Amino acid sequence: MNTKRQSSSPISRSGRFRSGPSEAVARFTESVSFDRRLWAQDILGSQVHAAMLHRVGLLSAQEYRQIRSGLQAIAEEIRSGRFVWKPELEDVHMNVEAELTRRVPAGAKLHTGRSRNDQVALDLRLWVRDEIDRLLDEICELMRALIRLAERSADIWIPGYTHLQRAQPVPVAHHLLAYVEMLDRDRSRFEDCRERLNECPLGSGALAGSTLPLDREFVARELGFVDKRGRPRITRNSMDAVSDRDFVLEFCAHAALLAVHLSRLAEDLILWSSAEFGFIRIGDAFTTGSSLMPQKKNPDVAELVRGKSGRVIGNLTALLVLLKGLPLTYNRDLQEDKERLFDTADTVRACTQIFAGMLDQVAFQPERCAAAVADPNLLATDLAEEMVRRGVPFRQAHHRVGAAVARAEQLGCTLRELPAEEWKRIWPGFDPEVLAVFDLARAMARRTLPGSPGPREVARQLKAWKRRLF
Ligand code: ARG
Repeated sequence: MNTKRQSSSPISRSGRFRSGPSEAVARFTESVSFDRRLWAQDILGSQVHAAMLHRVGLLSAQEYRQIRSGLQAIAEEIRSGRFVWKPELEDVHMNVEAELTRRVPAGAKLHTGRSRNDQVALDLRLWVRDEIDRLLDEICELMRALIRLAERSADIWIPGYTHLQRAQPVPVAHHLLAYVEMLDRDRSRFEDCRERLNECPLGSGALAGSTLPLDREFVARELGFVDKRGRPRITRNSMDAVSDRDFVLEFCAHAALLAVHLSRLAEDLILWSSAEFGFIRIGDAFTTGSSLMPQKKNPDVAELVRGKSGRVIGNLTALLVLLKGLPLTYNRDLQEDKERLFDTADTVRACTQIFAGMLDQVAFQPERCAAAVADPNLLATDLAEEMVRRGVPFRQAHHRVGAAVARAEQLGCTLRELPAEEWKRIWPGFDPEVLAVFDLARAMARRTLPGSPGPREVARQLKAWKRRLF
């Protein structure tokens, strides 16, 4: 191991240390290689912090001006890729501050009344807030894509499944709207997380605030940490504020659930696109071929979405374990939160975006769906319910239809084709008119309960979603 001492000592070590960390330690502890992603939030926070310091008389007008334009110039350089990041300066916060101080003497006053502990807590809140705003739009776009597909597939019915066995017929739209419901819950969870995280931690210092007359409410207001009536929202406990990562965990937990929903949708699409089902075709642009088998068209995009849910779930687990043993307040372990958070946000946003694009390239295959849904066994329950209408207790009806299904299977015919004498043997009160239940359109029209897959109810739900989302 290289234990050579570094020549240039990071500003965090200053007077307390006689030498810099060894190169190996610097390499091990640095985070700028990944937390530089927080630069825009970090600089925004510093701009507002400096404005506040000026307001309360801790910076002169000239010092504030120097800091403001210095930070602006640094932001420009970072944006255009010209800024040189130095790993020996540890993290994004030190890189920006050291460069500012190199350029303007007033830079040495920027960290007044502030610690990296409340600084990074602020940066992370701002970053997660921005990500949620973008993700919310992307979830809406995915919901719209589901609704477009549902509309394109109007009048197509497929078997609904339980235990992956054919159960009862449903319109494709009803199946797709189930995912719209899930995504809508995801959306409200992220909105909820955004609302809760929207409190400003700056002014908490390292853990115990500051003796300086900082104006926390000014900072909160300037950074958009406000309630619905525009009143500033600030954290109430400095120790909690610097060690709290609940908002990171909440975001990652909601993201894990979103990823699980996408994974289930992916699984449905993968099954439906197989030759065994043949319910859908996925456009060429969203499938790939095999390097060996020339006939193959694989649903790789859906498979990867299903696969990537694993890492999102893993990230959540890593964060829970990261936090569970930490005493108050800040511990360096917390630096490990960032890569899990970034990876989670990148992954769920990429999956949400690609899925919206893919759904626009999905086409249901009417003949294959019609053939599958024509199976009269799917309406066995309707027949039992018809018997109930005629006074047969449900348990008896269930038993008789079950016996009829078994008999039809023995005779090698469908339930619908079972001869009348067979019916009579099973159910002495048999009336051939009950066989009208096997008329699929009629069967669907009878499903009028709220939330059921009847055509009128599904049309009503579709209309309501369109009003909300388009
Ligand atoms: N890079 C650090 C992190 O991400 C910033 C806070 C450092 N604070 C400290 N006391 N060393 O957690």
